[in-house]
Amino acid sequence: MSSSQHLISVVIILSTVLGVDGFNGYYNYMITRCRFSSSLSELEYIRSYAFNKAEVIRFNSTVGKFVGYTDLGVHNAEAWNKDSALLAQERAEKDRYCKHNTQNEFNVVLSKKVEPKVRLTLGKTSTGGHPAVLMCSAYNFYPKMIRVTWQRDGQEMTGNVISSEELADGDWYYQTHSHLEFTPKAGEKISCVVEHESLREPLEITWDSSMPEPERNKIAIGAAALVLGLIVTAAGFIYYKTKSRGRILVPSG
Ligand SMILES: *[C@@H]1O[C@H](CO)[C@@H](O)[C@H](O)[C@H]1NC(C)=O
Repeated sequence: MSSSQHLISVVIILSTVLGVDGFNGYYNYMITRCRFSSSLSELEYIRSYAFNKAEVIRFNSTVGKFVGYTDLGVHNAEAWNKDSALLAQERAEKDRYCKHNTQNEFNVVLSKKVEPKVRLTLGKTSTGGHPAVLMCSAYNFYPKMIRVTWQRDGQEMTGNVISSEELADGDWYYQTHSHLEFTPKAGEKISCVVEHESLREPLEITWDSSMPEPERNKIAIGAAALVLGLIVTAAGFIYYKTKSRGRILVPSG
């Protein structure tokens, strides 16, 4: 996978709120966008003016002039499009503003890769003929595109897999979760395989089916309780023995 394959079109908001008049509960803003493809060959500069969340007027570099979306916007577009100095300025923004900013975004963020942290957990143990559920979660990876699959003894399993979308964490990282419903068989090898651009080869995490974690924990807790019980019993017994011996040795008159 190369980084250019998955980025078909990326929209980056490079500059947002310019003017906010929130004092009376109204919201007036201008937003500047540079839209570009992964190769940076297609570049579009968009400047929108909005009032109270509704877009009023927009300059689109592909169109080359202002377009109004409300009565006020249409009125203004007509006036602004007659202003050749303003039009010339807006038409130059694609090169002046978008070119180097998108290049920066590309160098600083889009070309980066961060490996997923993968965790394989048991969602549900298999009980009375009901299938077990395994969950494979990949966290904090970048970029978004990832492939999570399941294998049983090296063969890809297709049925009973539910995968979430890649969820944006809001900090450029993504996470995704895949559930596998299956009926465990003795001696089999179940694994979750994660493929991502950041990984040299697919990451495979194998489920230890011999003893699922919750079972192991239950046994460990039980064993600890048993040892504690034995210690208390032994202590009580020794205490009782010492006391009773004392009474025999020093009989009361
Ligand atoms: C800008 O205009 C072009 C041509 O009409 C159109 O294809 C493109 O979607 C427009 N961009 C936006 C963000 O509206």
